[in-house]
Amino acid sequence: MKKISVLGLGYIGLPTACMLANSGFEVLGVDIDEEVINKLNSERLHIEEPELERIFLNALKNKRLKVSLELEKSDVFIIAVPTPLNHHNKADLNYVISAANKIANKIEKGNLVILESTSPPGTTRNIVGNIITKSTGLLAKKDYYLAFCPERVLPGKIVYELENNDRIVGGIDKKSAEITEDIYKKFVKGKIFLTDLETSEFVKLAENTYRDINIAFANELSLICRDYGIDVREVIRYANMHPRVNILNPGPGVGGHCIAIDPWFILENTGRKDTLIEKSRNINNSMPYIISKLVIEIVNKYNKPKVTIFGFSYKENVGDIRESPAIIINNELIKKGIKVSIYDPLVINTKYNISELEDSVNGSDLILLFSGHNAFKEIDLILVLDLMRNKNIFDTRNFFNKTTLEKLGFNYYNI
Ligand SMILES: NC(=O)c1ccc[n+]([C@@H]2O[C@H](COP(=O)([O-])OP(=O)(O)OC[C@H]3O[C@@H](n4cnc5c(N)ncnc54)[C@H](O)[C@@H]3O)[C@@H](O)[C@H]2O)c1
Repeated sequence: MKKISVLGLGYIGLPTACMLANSGFEVLGVDIDEEVINKLNSERLHIEEPELERIFLNALKNKRLKVSLELEKSDVFIIAVPTPLNHHNKADLNYVISAANKIANKIEKGNLVILESTSPPGTTRNIVGNIITKSTGLLAKKDYYLAFCPERVLPGKIVYELENNDRIVGGIDKKSAEITEDIYKKFVKGKIFLTDLETSEFVKLAENTYRDINIAFANELSLICRDYGIDVREVIRYANMHPRVNILNPGPGVGGHCIAIDPWFILENTGRKDTLIEKSRNINNSMPYIISKLVIEIVNKYNKPKVTIFGFSYKENVGDIRESPAIIINNELIKKGIKVSIYDPLVINTKYNISELEDSVNGSDLILLFSGHNAFKEIDLILVLDLMRNKNIFDTRNFFNKTTLEKLGFNYYNI
């Protein structure tokens, strides 16, 4: 039986560690955050994700999963640490570097190192591989195996997709890719495709960049339609009736730690200027500012206006607010002296003040629907209407039915 250490016990590392443990491996989950380790050791989760509790408790029950602040000698090391963006739109690889250094202290001949963190092309070979070689003298291919295996799961469906999605494995050589495949094969029901390191790193980035560019196109269409006084949703609906057209929906900006970040990673080592990728990023980044401006235009006529944001996470049905454009909207409104209250039952453990529904809408002049959580379908809109001072709703996701809301007495705005 192989011993696998997973470094980083967040949204990716923890479910992966549980999957591996439930597939029969002896797994050590390692994190630098003491609070995370303490919580997990007392059988509590620090993140919300459907089905995660079930597979976590199962792994503990089977005595296959241990968590610790300290890394131990292992046969396989999997790195699943954050790769955020720094202020210069470059990958901050400090977490990867620190994880690679820890592995360098424990690695032995014949071990396998897998990077899962989304990274600019070349990171596995030039950062992880070089750190290990420099501090141990061990050479990838000759002395140990090295691979990249990107994560392509959807937050809110991570456990399901970990099992069912296809995977790409890039190896520094064929053998590295093959032994990595042997590990993932134990729990992945999808297909596993083998390639080289840099191709696998690039594939992950290309997927999210594709999404970003297509969202930017929909957003730009929405701005142009506004110039013409045309409803962009109707344009998209009819255009998508064409058999080879599939335009996405416009929205209030792109957030999260993947789509808003990965396009920059693709450009990182190229020095290319004036790219479609960068322009798309800029269009998507401009959306929360445009939405803020439109909201300010609506509420500025009121004395001491108050706006309620429904949904603060970067997308629907998750509690994750990383890179959420709702944060920008919140700040832009506050800068203009507008009182903002936030209602989001899914967002917990945040520095932002999240209110209960009634408090959030009490005396409000406008509801800004930012993320369309399913839970919002259950809201008693008549009660909300009663509590509001002015009955405006700005629906950035086309979440509500315009006619229904207008019948209830709301002034309905959308993108
Ligand atoms: N969350 C997703 O849906 C998703 C999807 C695809 C890819 N990814 C990528 O996966 C990677 C991990 O993302 P995440 O969402 O799991 O991050 P996360 O922030 O949820 O968790 C990362 C964990 O790593 C820990 N950590 C940091 N440095 C460490 C170190 N040196 N040793 C051990 N632990 C360390 C942190 O304390 C944290 O608990 C990122 O590169 C991300 O881009 C994430």
